[in-house]
Amino acid sequence: MKKLVVLSGAGMSAESGVSTFRDSNGLWQNHRIEEVASPIAWQNNPGMVLEFYNQRRKQLFEVEPNAGHLALVKLEEKYDVQIVTQNVDDLHERAGSTNVLHLHGELKKVRSTIDSSLVYTLDHWELKWGDKCEKGSQLRPHIVWFGEGVPLIGIATEIISEADFVLVIGTSMVVYPAAGLIGYAPESSLKYYIDPKAFPVSGISNLTVIKEKAGDGVPRLVDELLVDV
Ligand code: APR
Repeated sequence: MKKLVVLSGAGMSAESGVSTFRDSNGLWQNHRIEEVASPIAWQNNPGMVLEFYNQRRKQLFEVEPNAGHLALVKLEEKYDVQIVTQNVDDLHERAGSTNVLHLHGELKKVRSTIDSSLVYTLDHWELKWGDKCEKGSQLRPHIVWFGEGVPLIGIATEIISEADFVLVIGTSMVVYPAAGLIGYAPESSLKYYIDPKAFPVSGISNLTVIKEKAGDGVPRLVDELLVDV
């Protein structure tokens, strides 16, 4: 089977009702997202950080995968599909995709602040100050904050360097290192970038830009890719 890698960003989930960061001017309650999603914010105002993620987690229990997420699942019939997402929602998994790598963490997971290997899945939306891991330390969102390393970037780079097909969906391609991943795809691989605003990408060979919403562009492209195999 040919290897197909999906790189998805916030636009992938926009039609499910999950707002993208930069579409709301990058602000949350008048704070820049970078000021909330950061280790310094956690140190100075953990209550605000918990509230930010609690609201996002709560919303996650109210939204559903869209036509784009669902179409990607069908690709698994004929391709070896790996999804590498910048999204912290679980909509790819809920749609039925099997291999999903979350570069920036996962909203429904939390982890210990003294032992990062202690990761737990929440079955409810609220993480409170005072909720502790089994070693007695405060739990934090299992999210890669601005200024933190991206632990899975090495694996993601390896995955994309073996791709035959790459689908970049709904990302402004401005946040590194994720935005640089496309540069590791083999020159010969066929690449598609689906985003209504599709930012200019230079120096990438075999790239087809599709200026459409994920809910329209992804099902159409998936149908084409399934016919062509
Ligand atoms: N279908 C496809 N793309 C869409 C849609 C849609 N319906 N609606 C919006 N978009 C596109 C926008 O045109 C934009 O290019 O989604 C992109 C969203 O860009 P960002 O909000 O910058 O999201 P993303 O690229 O995922 O951001 C990367 O930045 O804030 C951090 O860690 C956070 O993972 C996030 C990272």
